[in-house]
Amino acid sequence: MDPNKKQMAFELFEAHAHLYKHMFKYMNSMCLWGAVQLGIPDAVHNHGKAITIPELVSALNINPAKTNCLYRIMRMLVHSGFFATVIGEEDGEESYSLTQSSRLLVKANPNCLSLFVKSLLTPEFLAPWYLLADWFHGNESTAFEKAHGMPFWELNDKNTEFNQLFNQAMACDSRMMNLVIRECKPIIEGVDSFVDVGGGTGSLARIISEAHPHMKCTVLELPQVVANLKSSENLNFVAGDMFQHIPPAAVIILKLILHNWSDDECVKILKKCREAVSIKGEGGKVIIIDLVIDEKNDEHELTETKLLFDLLMMVVVTGRERSEKEWKRLFMKAGFTRYKIRPLLGLRSLIEVYP
Ligand SMILES: C[S@@+](CC[C@H](N)C(=O)[O-])C[C@H]1O[C@@H](n2cnc3c(N)ncnc32)[C@H](O)[C@@H]1O
Repeated sequence: MDPNKKQMAFELFEAHAHLYKHMFKYMNSMCLWGAVQLGIPDAVHNHGKAITIPELVSALNINPAKTNCLYRIMRMLVHSGFFATVIGEEDGEESYSLTQSSRLLVKANPNCLSLFVKSLLTPEFLAPWYLLADWFHGNESTAFEKAHGMPFWELNDKNTEFNQLFNQAMACDSRMMNLVIRECKPIIEGVDSFVDVGGGTGSLARIISEAHPHMKCTVLELPQVVANLKSSENLNFVAGDMFQHIPPAAVIILKLILHNWSDDECVKILKKCREAVSIKGEGGKVIIIDLVIDEKNDEHELTETKLLFDLLMMVVVTGRERSEKEWKRLFMKAGFTRYKIRPLLGLRSLIEVYP
């Protein structure tokens, strides 16, 4: 074959494989969802050593006629880094062990994120994607609203099961933050009060209130989230709306809040935060735990995950992920004078903002 034609054919088929890979990538997510639903990570963990496919079939109590299908799911999950294969020295039989990623899906792990996978891959989260193109032609503020006839927070108010799973998912994420929050201890050292705005069911606030028994800790949340939560000695749950009023405190925490909202909505929330920390006088600040897009310095894969989060915020709520320049614009518009960003481990950064 003519070398030019050969090169063209090579490039064409490379593009062909690239296209198919991206068309089918959703199956990676769905294999993960299926594995969590079946309880595969727990079964491998409970086995105590690498598990063979027949042992896994028996541990999961699934139809033995599906043995080969389970093998094919596991082969894919090995390929995507969720399990590792171990080959028996004597019989050459293949068995499967956990990796760091699947350990995050084991219930016995205090940092278990399996409910996060279950929540974020429910049909309610996936349905809006089919309406993306229609949404661009319509007036709804999100594709989620187009799919469900109401905004995300309203569905949470109306659908208790959906709301409970989402709150549990967020609580898992906050428990995982325990690891980095301890690292940030000096940031809240000496502070007498804080409010975790939109603090969910209080996972993060509980970690801080236990580490600082003399600090007055408050979680401000929507009524449906905190309705049945009991306050304790130094942890108080307040039902309210952050757009209306934020209780005064030395420190306000906003973890994974501002990325849910548009720039105008963020400026409104931030202005309320500025009022709340200013009432106490000097030394107040707002702490934001959220994503910062930094395509220049981040690894390619980290940026891809942040960009996926950005699309999630666009499709489900009116929010977005922001670069430092975009964050700075919000802070200045809300009347703050300075800020400091420090990257935490993984996806998130911690931003301190001062009036
Ligand atoms: C993405 S979750 C983050 C929860 C928590 N900060 C965390 O990181 O685990 C956003 C939270 O904001 C709360 N929220 C939404 N609108 C709110 C409002 N107007 N006032 C107070 N909280 C609100 C939701 O109920 C939800 O728990």
